[in-house]
Formats: sequence, C-alpha cells, structure tokens
Amino acid sequence: MKKMLIIGMIFLLYGCQSKQTSTLDNGGFETGDLTGWTSEGDAFLAQQVTNTLVYGEYNRKYYHEGNYHLVGSQNSSATGSLKSTVFRIESTGFITFLIAGGFNYNKTYVGLYDAKTHELLDKKFNQMFHDPNHTDGYVRVIWDVTKYQSKSVYLKVVDEDTSHYFGYLNIDDFRINLTESELAYYQKDALIRLGHATSDDMLEAINRYIDMNAWKVSKETRMNYHVTGEMGWINDPNGFVFYKGKNHLFYQHNPKDIVWGPMHWGHVVSDDLVKWEYLPIALAPDQPYDSNGVFSGSAIVIEDKLYLIYTGNIPNRQIQAIAYSDNGIEFTKHENNPVINEYKVPAGASVVDFRDPKVWKYEDFYYMVVGSRQTSQNYGQILMYKSADLVEWTYVGAPYKGSSQTFDKLGRMWECPDIFLIGDKHVLLFSPQEVPNHRNHNSTVYVVGNLNYQTGKLENVSYNNIEEIDHGFDFYAPQTMLDDQGRRIMIAWMQSWNRTPVTSGLGFAGAMTLPRVLSLVDGKLYQTPISEIENYRQNPINRTIIVSNDSISIPGLSGVSNELLITLAPNNYEAGIKLFKGENEETKVYYKDGFLVLDRTNGTSGKVPTGDLHNITKIPVTLQNGSVQLRIFIDKYSVEVFVNNGRYVITTTVFPSLSARGIEFYSYGQATFNIEGYDLVIE
Ligand code: FRU
Repeated sequence: MKKMLIIGMIFLLYGCQSKQTSTLDNGGFETGDLTGWTSEGDAFLAQQVTNTLVYGEYNRKYYHEGNYHLVGSQNSSATGSLKSTVFRIESTGFITFLIAGGFNYNKTYVGLYDAKTHELLDKKFNQMFHDPNHTDGYVRVIWDVTKYQSKSVYLKVVDEDTSHYFGYLNIDDFRINLTESELAYYQKDALIRLGHATSDDMLEAINRYIDMNAWKVSKETRMNYHVTGEMGWINDPNGFVFYKGKNHLFYQHNPKDIVWGPMHWGHVVSDDLVKWEYLPIALAPDQPYDSNGVFSGSAIVIEDKLYLIYTGNIPNRQIQAIAYSDNGIEFTKHENNPVINEYKVPAGASVVDFRDPKVWKYEDFYYMVVGSRQTSQNYGQILMYKSADLVEWTYVGAPYKGSSQTFDKLGRMWECPDIFLIGDKHVLLFSPQEVPNHRNHNSTVYVVGNLNYQTGKLENVSYNNIEEIDHGFDFYAPQTMLDDQGRRIMIAWMQSWNRTPVTSGLGFAGAMTLPRVLSLVDGKLYQTPISEIENYRQNPINRTIIVSNDSISIPGLSGVSNELLITLAPNNYEAGIKLFKGENEETKVYYKDGFLVLDRTNGTSGKVPTGDLHNITKIPVTLQNGSVQLRIFIDKYSVEVFVNNGRYVITTTVFPSLSARGIEFYSYGQATFNIEGYDLVIE
C-alpha cells in the first residue's frame, strides 16, 4: 500500500511536471493539423489548418509564418474554441502570435487562462480589424504577461460570434516565453506588418506596405502603357538602363501618399518598354546620409554589376552616393558613401542644391553631371566630375552656367541634367526651375554643343537655339539611356512641379511619358515613340475624309487607349481632332493660323486650374505640302502629340469622365484628314 502511494506520488509529480512545461505544442500548426490543441465546437477544425498563401479576389497575402496556419471557419453559425497545452510563464514572460479576422472582439479573441482555476486572466483580439489589410491578413500581437510569472496557464482561441460578418478568426505562430532578443525581433516584425519600421527594416517595411495595399488601385483605373507607381506618388525617372537583357526603370516614389514625401526608388522592368512589371522598391531613405530622401540619379552597368548613383538628401546639404547589385533587384549601398560630399563642391556652388547625378563612361573614365545653383547670383549651372572607379571623384568643370542673360529662358536652379552624344554633337538636357513668365514655371530644355572633356565645358552653344523639349503642361526631369540596339531613348515624368496630378483621387499620382527615341536633325531634337508600341495595335482603321463645317466620328474608331496618325490639310479657320469626347467635354488638338494648338479647357473635369495659361498650349508649325503630320497617343489620362515627325511634342495630362470615349474630326471651313487609327491593347 505504501509502495503504491509512493508510486502514485511519483506519477503525480511527474504528471504535474509534464504539465509545467515552458514550451507550447504545435504553436504554429506546422504539423498541418491540430496536434497539441483541443478543439471544441466547429469553429476550429483540423481541416482548416492550411498552407494557402493568399485570399480574396486580389490574391492578397496572409503573411502567415512557416508553412501552415489556421483559417477559422467562415460558416457564420460555427462557434467553438481551441485550447493549447498547459505551460508555465517564464523568462521575459512575453507571448506573441498572429491574428486576423474577428469583427466582434467581445466574441472572437484569444484568452490566457489559469490552468488550475480556469480563470480568464487576460485576452487579446485583432485590434487592426478595421484596417482592410487585416481583416484576413495577419497582424502580430505582442502580449505582456509578466505579471503572471511562474503561473501555469493555457491559451484558448475563442469564437462565439455567429454573425455572418467576419465572425471568424485566423491564427498562427503562437510563441511563449520569448527571450529578450526574440522579443526585439517580434516587436520589429509587428511594426513591419503595419508598414512601419526602424532604419534597418525600412525597405522590407515599405515593400510589405505596397504588397498589402496596392490592390486598392484597381487595374481598370491604371494607365495601359504608361508607367505609374504601384500606388502613391511618383516623380522623376531614375536609373533608366538596359541590364542583363531587360530595360530597367527606377523612379522617385512615395508609396504611402499621393503627394511628394519620403523619397524611395521604385522599380519596374520591361522587355519592350511598353509592358512593365513591378519589382520591389530598390532604395529606401535608411542611411544617415540619405535620411531625408533618396533623390534622383542614374544607373550604369559595369561588367556584371548594376550601379545606381543617386543624391542623398539631408538637412542643409545634398551628397552623391552609390549602390550596387548583382541581380538588378536587391541593392547594397556602398560602404564608402557618400562618394561626393560637400567638400567636393566647387567654390561658388550651393551645397544645398547639388543633386541628380547622371553618370556615363567615356574612354577610360566615368563622368558625372550634377544639377547645381550658383551661390552668388542664384542662377543654375551644371557641374561635371570624373572618376576611375565611381568611388573617388574629382571635379572637372561646369559644362554650362546660367546668368542674367539666360534668366528669361533658363530660370534659376537646374535639375536633372543628362548629356550624351548624337552623331558629332553633345546634347545636354536639364530642367530649369523658376522660369519667369512661362507656362511651365518648371520647364525642360535641351542645349546642343561639343563637350570638352579636359575643361568640362560645353562649347559651341548657341543660346538662341536652346529650346523647350516638350511643349505641353506635363513633362519634367527627362532621362535617357542607350539601349541594346544603340537607340538613345528618353523618358520623362509626365507631370511637373506645382501642377495637380489628375489621378490622385484614384490612389496614384504621376506617370512616365511614352519612351521616345531621340535624333538630331539640323541641330533640332526630334522625338519618335519607341517602335515596340506598334506591336500592340489592334483594329486598324484607314480613312481619308473631308470635313466641312462639321464634327464627325469614324465608325469603329473611339476609346481611351489609341494611336492616331493623321495628315491634316487645314484651311484658313480651325481644323482638328477632339479626343476624350463626351457630352460636355473634349480635349482638342487643332491647327489654326500657323499654330498647332492643344486645348484641354474642357478635358480635365475641373482637376486643373482654369484659364488659358494652364489649359492651352501652342507651337508654330510650317505646313509641309499644305499639311501637318500628327501622331497622337492617348492613354486614359494623357495625350502625347508628335508633330511633323517629332519636331515638336506636346505632352499633357487630362481627366475625362468615364463615358468620354469619342474621337471626332472637326473643321470650321473645309479640311482633309488622312487617318490611320488603332486601339492600343495591352493585356
Ligand atoms: C526633380 C527633383 C530632383 C530631386 C527630386 C526629388 O523633379 O526636384 O531635383 O532629386 O525631384 O524627388
């Protein structure tokens, strides 16, 4: 009897000890079932342990941990509970787990229970339920249970909700008794899941944020063949380059808002410059030398590596930095950054306005042009540097400088320079700010000359020949690259400063222009849309029509994503095309009195300020054989008009209502239109 008692006591002790464990069985459901858990009712059944990655119509990620997680029964009448094994609270005492779903937190929660008394000690629910990302996508709960140190407890997931509206819980990754370092790790993870992070997680957090939120910008509202951000704000094109068989384009990006803000480098790739695919954000402002923004810059391929050269924006100065990659997706910022700091800025140049490096190779060296401002008179200038390795740079000279004589055309600070050779001429592009009395206060120009690599000066420049690159309202900060076919291709931000991004209400602001191939004809820059766009033509229409005091459409030719090639023989009055024609709206492109005019006065649904200065733009054209040649591209919110084979281009945003899909040809007096028209269909 005594023996029995001793054995019984040992058994009891052993039994108790086994219940006093400091681990939790199957906290992450990695067995693929409910091993270690006790389920009551029908809310949490073994078959609901799943390895499904995504949910809903937009295939959004759950972001569960490991292979398996538990998606509670969505059958609204299902209720029940899921009880864990018993464990003892030790160490820091913190518990963590993932939770989603659960509209009614009184009825759907995770409870901590005293193992002896079964008293409910504390409970947690999905505090982020009302953020649409966390109805089904997991947030992490960090649970401070230190005051229950040494207690034996168990967890119980409870679903008592019978409403049809999110009356279920998804759960995963229960971890108990976290060590200090585990706690720090999971606290960061909790922030990243909400899209916030400290500097070392910034890139991961912003990419997570985009993954979770980009579905809010629906495919229907996106542009068809123009690059926009996956969501949020974009400005300048950056790092436009051909690398390992693909065209890469980066861009200034504030994913979290539809206005300018903390600058990251967004990233897209394309085989043909028409159909683009999003890649993760490449650079985040996560270093002391770029903490106020990873500003504009360029890219260069050296052997197998892709280098990005950018401006780090910090209080009171701007520096130049580099990052590199072996795969063109993940970038490492160089340990010697900044590679050009304020001590390398020449005397008389601002250290605050010192940005947008464009790098290229010539003979054995790398060269860089940077946008700059002269401190003495506040006019713009371009600076040039030279390096053997991208890391050590020396100042060479200023290719071009503004002065009181250039002020009328070239304003003050010059942003985003680019310089390249076409034939035997160098073409310098830049974006001057504060151009007085100009439709585009922030403009873009090209300057033709010969770059002297010794002095760093652009020689043989004729000031009178300096022209605006694009004559619309929405064209800024263009950048070029040389592609694998030897084409000099330019792309620009299809927007400008101090203008209203028409699409912001749709969750994205700003887009890129159509990429254009550059050439020089008699010292003038010509722009030709990349020929790849022609692969997307559908439903061709070919017609010659004579229009006399009328406005007519052509059966089969309408829409918001089209290409039109028109030879227009005008008259002495006004003749042209109405795009995005609706009941009370249209954007007109017409010839009148020696000018080609674009008028969007009735084409933006009131999204841009009223008045001719903001809505009408015109260029002088010489008729060739009595006609003007127009090649027009429209894409939902944009119009790009290439005049006389690209001698002039007008790029403009519009914001028609959904029903405004008409294309009409009109004339006061009589005019002849030779029309080739296509739908541009990008699947
Ligand atoms: C040009 C610009 C650049 C700068 C960037 C910041 O649009 O002002 O000079 O690097 O935008 O986003």
